[in-house]
Amino acid sequence: MNVLALSHSNGIAARISKYLDIPLIRAQRKKFPDGEIYVRIPQALDDTTIIVQSLEYPQSENFIELLECIEAARGLNTQRIITIIPYLAYARQDKRFLEGEPITVKIILKTLESLGVDALITVDIHQERSLKEWLSIPARNVLPYKEIASYFKNKLESPLVLAPDKGALKRAKLVAEQLNTDFDYNEKKRDRITGEVTVLPRKINVENRDIIIVDDIISTGGTITLATKSALENGANKVYVACTHALLINGALDRIFSAGATEVVATDTVKSPISKISVAPTLANALKEFI
Ligand code: R5P
Repeated sequence: MNVLALSHSNGIAARISKYLDIPLIRAQRKKFPDGEIYVRIPQALDDTTIIVQSLEYPQSENFIELLECIEAARGLNTQRIITIIPYLAYARQDKRFLEGEPITVKIILKTLESLGVDALITVDIHQERSLKEWLSIPARNVLPYKEIASYFKNKLESPLVLAPDKGALKRAKLVAEQLNTDFDYNEKKRDRITGEVTVLPRKINVENRDIIIVDDIISTGGTITLATKSALENGANKVYVACTHALLINGALDRIFSAGATEVVATDTVKSPISKISVAPTLANALKEFI
């Protein structure tokens, strides 16, 4: 068995290799002058190859690199390929919101399967049902909310876990259960054309509570900024923010801190200055079920 680290494994491949005592190989990657991606696996592979690549920015290039490595691994006669994708990009477009749009998560998953991936492990995919909908190979969605809860354990006064919208409620619930506290969600409206987001008045009482806002992704930070402002305006004591995938586009962190957040933390599925919680141990455990 081998663990193959691609250019955006973010150290997760090396950690899995160490935890499970599986030899690590690093794939070579370069870019041709015209922008095409070249990869090479520099040595022979064992029967099972575990390929690790996060689809963080530049997500489309990283996806091509992953596909090339899957094909290269097949060419080296490995018998079984398990792909670990800590951040699975393009997952938010999981249906046709407007006529004429593609379902991008379908493209990603179906392409992986058609290239001969035997199993897939990812972390906190936007909608878990996408895996069932578009894959027939074994797939596992690992959730990092125990680890996120441990990070905050004994740090907060009267914590309340808040999802910035109904879609994130399950995530808030998981953190709250670990912290033995309550949870709720904000009502959010997003205009699909302009992208404008408004937080509707909610019924929860955040007064004098330390709030942990939990979401799967922080992209521009707009959603979290609104939730942070709203919690503080309604009397919250402090606001902490946690997410799985810290994409942090266009000054997202500045926006969130300016809204009054005390701390923002994320897992290491995406490289960022706040990626302090590693998903590698959880991924290694999930992998044990497949090997
Ligand atoms: C949306 O459904 C996701 O769960 C996140 O709430 C969203 O991607 C965050 O985006 P942004 O940081 O740009 O508000």
